[in-house]
Amino acid sequence: MKVLIHLAVLFFSIPVFAANEVKDDPAYQYQPNSYCGACHQEQLRDYSQSMMGKTPHDKVFQQFYLGLNAKGEKDGMGYKGFHPDEPGDCANCHTPDVVLNEGHEVDLTEAIDKGSQGISCDFCHTVADVRVIRDPDTGRYTTDINHVVTRARGDTKRGPYDDAVSPAHKTVMSPIHLKSEFCAMCHLNQEHLLSISTYADWKAAYDKGAVTQQCQECHMPTGGKDRPVAIGGKVRKAETIRRHLFHGGHSKDMLDKAATLKLEAGKKDGVLVVDASVTNSGAGHTLPGGATLRNIILVVDAQDAAGNHLQHLGGKQEKLPPLAGVGNTERDFAGHPGKMFARPFVTKTGMVPAGGFNADHELFNTRIPPRETDHSTFHFTLPEKGAIKVTARLIYRWTYKPMADKKGWDLEDIEMTRQSVEVD
Ligand code: HEC
Ligand code: HEC
Ligand code: HEC
Ligand code: HEC
Ligand code: HEC
Repeated sequence: MKVLIHLAVLFFSIPVFAANEVKDDPAYQYQPNSYCGACHQEQLRDYSQSMMGKTPHDKVFQQFYLGLNAKGEKDGMGYKGFHPDEPGDCANCHTPDVVLNEGHEVDLTEAIDKGSQGISCDFCHTVADVRVIRDPDTGRYTTDINHVVTRARGDTKRGPYDDAVSPAHKTVMSPIHLKSEFCAMCHLNQEHLLSISTYADWKAAYDKGAVTQQCQECHMPTGGKDRPVAIGGKVRKAETIRRHLFHGGHSKDMLDKAATLKLEAGKKDGVLVVDASVTNSGAGHTLPGGATLRNIILVVDAQDAAGNHLQHLGGKQEKLPPLAGVGNTERDFAGHPGKMFARPFVTKTGMVPAGGFNADHELFNTRIPPRETDHSTFHFTLPEKGAIKVTARLIYRWTYKPMADKKGWDLEDIEMTRQSVEVD
């Protein structure tokens, strides 16, 4: 028995000892990106154009926190509109430095006033470990950043190399930086619903073998010439250098490789039948991604030889919902033949779309998992004579159009792909 206890102590003392090697200096002040970027110029240039590099100064984010429209007027649509007296967890992932320093939720305005550097070079490169915590009974995650991150603030910068030598800081090779779990720190948000599910969606696909890459391999691409990664550094092989682009749904280059659309049309029983298949061919998680506001719209159109629209015969299930835009502009697709791929939330009182912070349940979930295909069918009247042209477009929107209309947000429709077929 004694031997067993000794063995247990020995066994458990190994990881404890390893964890003790990580030194975290609470007095350490994070350096600004401009300091690191003076030597790591490419990293700074790439990172500064990303959405992550811009938060918490991204206006859309601030307005969705404060409950303001684009003009800065109170409209109640946002976290503070529902919880005026609570700080909320919004600063957790958008300004992690201040929240972790305080050890609890911090009001966003206060975090910015306290000089948050946002998601900075120095923050990411002094993270020692990230845990993904899931209750096996309920399936729910613990995602509060204060519980999932181990920091190692100080002079040692953690990165992918085991042979880096810098005059400005110590370096150490960090396995967690090469893995999706590093990104799970923020790309997973358990509220009443799992309001950001990107990591979990990736993990499910990765475990099945549908996806083989880590987040970094797609969102921090390699390429270009062999080069140094710092002024004064040695020339490194291009395939060992990851660009800090973090492109996602706001970037046409990523959206271009995300989906494939196949269209077939034919005459059957006196009507035109159109089959559309949308495949998630390039994303490492669902399409659109794991945040509730993102949506992708399939718009189907059939015309006769003279260019007149054929009458749509299908019912409600073949039409786009109000979230595709209600109004008279050519971008308001509600009621138009098509399908929306999204996971919109509803509040307890039935308001749509809700944010994660006031969501009660899902309205629907039509997001497409990696390498899977969604099939849909549409019916139209046949013209008396002549050829028919069927066109389908796939459009990405970072938020729902009715919400952008109310907020006064500038919402661009990004066409991911378009296909046409002719029927004689
Ligand atoms: C969101 C976290 C994050 C931020 C912010 C970030 N990095 Fe990185 N960085 C990483 C990860 C992850 C890797 C390693 C990726 C891999 O090799 O798989 C990396 C790699 C590097 C490397 C090794 C060379 C390379 O490019 O692969 C350097 C140097 C570096 N980062 C410096 C910086 C600097 C300077 C900034 C700020 C301008 C910055 N990083 C911002 C996560 C981050
Ligand atoms: C667990 C980390 C986390 C927390 C907590 C969090 N966010 Fe985010 N937020 C993210 C991530 C990650 C994204 C990017 C999601 C994506 O594109 O898939 C994001 C994106 C957003 C966007 C979209 C920005 C744009 O320009 O498209 C808004 C708005 C936003 N968050 C608001 C909030 C508000 C308000 C809160 C508090 C109620 C909050 N967030 C709490 C991680 C978080
Ligand atoms: C005076 C120039 C200089 C400054 C300032 C500087 N670095 Fe470095 N850094 C270097 C050099 C040189 C290397 C080694 C490059 C190599 O070996 O290829 C390096 C390596 C790195 C690595 C790779 C470590 C590894 O083991 O993989 C990271 C990450 C990094 N720096 C992050 C930062 C961050 C974050 C800051 C700001 C807090 C910063 N650096 C400031 C020059 C600098
Ligand atoms: C400290 C929190 C944090 C970490 C760590 C983090 N992210 Fe993010 N990420 C965010 C937030 C917050 C946003 C949304 C910013 C906004 O739009 O205001 C975001 C946005 C993004 C986007 C969307 C960009 C767009 O154009 O829509 C991509 C892609 C992304 N992150 C990839 C990654 C990858 C890959 C990693 C891991 C190497 C990572 N992130 C680590 C918080 C984080
Ligand atoms: C196989 C490549 C691949 C992998 C692996 C991958 N992504 Fe993506 N990601 C994409 C593509 C392509 C898009 C653009 C389509 C879209 O927006 O869903 C994207 C979009 C995103 C977006 C924006 C979502 C939206 O709909 O606006 C975020 C955030 C993101 N990825 C984060 C991550 C994180 C975090 C991981 C790892 C857990 C990851 N990605 C793994 C390819 C990948």
